[in-house]
Amino acid sequence: MIVREAWAFRARVEREAAFRFARLAEEISAFDPDSPVPAMMRKAAEDERRHLALCEELAGGPVEGIAGSDRIAPRSLGPREAALYETVAACCITETESVATVTSLLSEDALPRVREVLHEIARDEVSHSRMGWAHLAREAGELEVGFLSRWLPSMLAGAAGSAFEPFEAEMDSPELLRHGVLPISRKRSTFVHTLREVVFPGLEQFGISTDAARAWLSERSPAAGGAGLR
Ligand SMILES: [Fe+2]
Ligand SMILES: [Fe+2]
Repeated sequence: MIVREAWAFRARVEREAAFRFARLAEEISAFDPDSPVPAMMRKAAEDERRHLALCEELAGGPVEGIAGSDRIAPRSLGPREAALYETVAACCITETESVATVTSLLSEDALPRVREVLHEIARDEVSHSRMGWAHLAREAGELEVGFLSRWLPSMLAGAAGSAFEPFEAEMDSPELLRHGVLPISRKRSTFVHTLREVVFPGLEQFGISTDAARAWLSERSPAAGGAGLR
């Protein structure tokens, strides 16, 4: 049941990502027609539709829900800043976390078909993460990107989902690994580690302060590398 639900959840995330990348491709090309990023986004939208089918296969059938991608950026931002907000949240944070999750799963003994699917997803998500960093690097040459600092906690809350909420014992069973699902304590530690080791240093390179983001994370995961148990 947990396995089915986890793959169904991923299927919805893939569908939403497909809509989001197709929309961002149009938005970015409107203000930066020479950017290579929109073509990468269109390719990524195709990848996500393929991932959707793979996730539905492992969920045991078609998954309902999500017919678009709501704009997640705050309304106070202009179109260019909003596209950057959304790209950083979806690619630099969420796709980077996805790579870490799938890589962590591939280090375990998953069933053969599950491994195949994880491999295919991992390969694509690496390039989806990169396209986010490519867009951020390009925008950093044009805009003051430091405004993103104060929004990082809301991006993290979106990316964390229910990872820091209380959980049932069965959600932490090592048996889940065979089916391509991380036990929740492992999911938390992977999430926290990836932010501290990859995402935060990456953002800081562009002069984006991660103080608020680090404070948000410390409240949820006080011990270094801790699982955030309550
Ligand atoms: Fe995907
Ligand atoms: Fe992706």
